[in-house]
Amino acid sequence: MDDRIFSFINDVLPEEDSGLEALREYASEHNVPVLRRDAAALLRILLFLHKPSEILEIGTAIGYSASVMAETLPHAHIDTVEIDTDMVITARNNFRKLGLDGRIRVIAGDAGEVMASLSRRYDMIFMDAAKGQYAALYDDALRLLGPGGLLLCDNCIFYGKIPDKPEDAPHKHRTIVANMRTFLNKMMNDERLVSSLLNVGDGMAAAYRKGENAGD
Ligand SMILES: C[S@@+](CC[C@H](N)C(=O)[O-])C[C@H]1O[C@@H](n2cnc3c(N)ncnc32)[C@H](O)[C@@H]1O
Repeated sequence: MDDRIFSFINDVLPEEDSGLEALREYASEHNVPVLRRDAAALLRILLFLHKPSEILEIGTAIGYSASVMAETLPHAHIDTVEIDTDMVITARNNFRKLGLDGRIRVIAGDAGEVMASLSRRYDMIFMDAAKGQYAALYDDALRLLGPGGLLLCDNCIFYGKIPDKPEDAPHKHRTIVANMRTFLNKMMNDERLVSSLLNVGDGMAAAYRKGENAGD
């Protein structure tokens, strides 16, 4: 997104509460990538509209986006998966400080292994972890997402790199670009879903999993 438009959007968005603002400042000081404010604002609207009770997040980091979800929906329960042990400790501390630890469970481990081991149904899945793995996680995400569920995936434009053809991307990004394109192709053409790709955050793919009957 054009820098001028990006900073204008950031300026007009409402302030966050002090607890969330502190997490965002910590993330910025420690170079931890967290959900951009425009994406967090969209996430809140989708949460109010969809009202999920059970949410699965892939990629906790320090717990910013999980805190946004838990604060927005005071009755929701969130399972959030994180591979980095230091992040797991920091996120658990942050949830405790914000009084959200009773409703957010941090599952330490690799998303692929953890998702394969889960069997409960979620009303919403938010994927915000290793972009190169989204394609490999897709089948498990659909297995865990019930009909009427919402799938949201950040980083689908990956700082503007995904529109490049894999062969034109810098060598170190070729696999990520190819995998993300495979993932988007699956998600956008899956007849079980109604899908879109939005220029919000770092590229937010969103899909509603249709119910059994037409119109559900
Ligand atoms: C973009 S950050 C998540 C930001 C967070 N959702 C937020 O907005 O506050 C991505 C996180 O995914 C984690 N991650 C990367 N690969 C993973 C994997 N295979 N399994 C679980 N977590 C992973 C990283 O350690 C990192 O903390």
